[in-house]
Amino acid sequence: MWGENYSKEELLALERKYTVQSWDASRLKDPILVEREEGVFFWNRRGRRYLDFSAQYGSCNVGFRNKEMVEALQRPLKFGSVSAMFVHTLRIQLAELLAKIAPGNLGKSHFECTGSDAVEAALKFARKYTKKWKIMSLWEGYSGEGTLGALSAHGLPDSRFDFEPLLPGFVHVSPPYCYRCDFGLKYPDCGLACLDVLEKTITREGHMAGMILEPVPAGGGVIIFPDEYLPKLREICDRHHVLLILDEIVTGFGRTGKMFCCEHSDVVPDMLVIGKGFTSGYGAAAAVVVPEHFTIYDCTKPQETRQCHSMSGSPLACIAAITNINIILRDKLVENASEMGKYLLEGLRDLQEKSDIIGDVRGKGLLVGIELVKDKKSKEPDKDKEREIIEKCIQRGLIVEGRCGGPQSVIVLHPSLIVNKEHIDTALDILSDVIK
Ligand SMILES: Cc1ncc(COP(=O)(O)O)c(C=O)c1O
Repeated sequence: MWGENYSKEELLALERKYTVQSWDASRLKDPILVEREEGVFFWNRRGRRYLDFSAQYGSCNVGFRNKEMVEALQRPLKFGSVSAMFVHTLRIQLAELLAKIAPGNLGKSHFECTGSDAVEAALKFARKYTKKWKIMSLWEGYSGEGTLGALSAHGLPDSRFDFEPLLPGFVHVSPPYCYRCDFGLKYPDCGLACLDVLEKTITREGHMAGMILEPVPAGGGVIIFPDEYLPKLREICDRHHVLLILDEIVTGFGRTGKMFCCEHSDVVPDMLVIGKGFTSGYGAAAAVVVPEHFTIYDCTKPQETRQCHSMSGSPLACIAAITNINIILRDKLVENASEMGKYLLEGLRDLQEKSDIIGDVRGKGLLVGIELVKDKKSKEPDKDKEREIIEKCIQRGLIVEGRCGGPQSVIVLHPSLIVNKEHIDTALDILSDVIK
């Protein structure tokens, strides 16, 4: 295979020379060159094994080099490069499958290539459908860094600064981040003041087309909302004819112990945005799923505007998604995520009791955050500690992620949904050794 005769240093130099940004983006002191993957592990050049509790940015729900996935992608095809201008059976099959598993009346899909593209499409749909133009989102929320529209809704300031001014009409409000409430209040005495402010903001701003948010902001440090937050938000959106857009790019496909996270609170959004675990990273695919009655485009009109990418819903992306969803359903990975998530959370809560620097542990299913502080009383974040712990975990063979920028320091865990207790015990042992 190409590259086999190069050393790691030579490959790294070539990559730095010929790519704009890649390994360097991980900010690791010693970038890892992935040589081989299997299950929840990958190996580097020197044969060093890593237990991956990041699942590659939370994408790989069915695990690495899954035999069925690899076989499905190698099956001979009668067609391989069909653009969005034509119809093909795999795209129809995938749309039908999504209609079966999506919550409530969500039954029509629009395919895209990446999560940012799908967010972008949802924002455009909201404008076109409501004929209003503003979009609201949460500070600390992640909407995507790949397109300017998604980045305008994005609520993590570090990623935004270099690209400002961003698009007009995007409004941010405080998230229900109860460990660090923007209003200095305490749940439940607060009466969810953040939602009152959100509703007032809709009225004061006017022209609000949609509200986009993750049901659990993941990159923002795994923020777990109070149970009534999403149902109340649904009511507010209905009251003001604002579309509720749930970004389940991380939380979808079983990650939180339900097929889609919104099922925990029986809330059906007007648009469900999916990516990552949709193909477990084996294909470039994302989608927006809308209700059956939702007519955004009249395709029979030749002059109708379009939202399409040349290769969205490509045959290979569709095969990856169909096979991936069938594995998740058949192997009961949603149930495993729920059970293993509880086991992981219990282990981390024990660790929290013994530690002076774990301020909060929170999670849903296999999406878990460990918030680090200088001391538990002041709750002062410790960003240096976050980097130090990530590096030390990696030295011990465990891959974990940090929060996406900002002063708060959170270790984020979202392993593949195939993890078992043995894997979790290994991760807990390493974490208890390095979180000091
Ligand atoms: C919640 C959420 N939305 C959108 C995106 C953007 O997806 P992509 O990186 O595929 O463009 C991400 C990526 O991490 C995400 O976590």
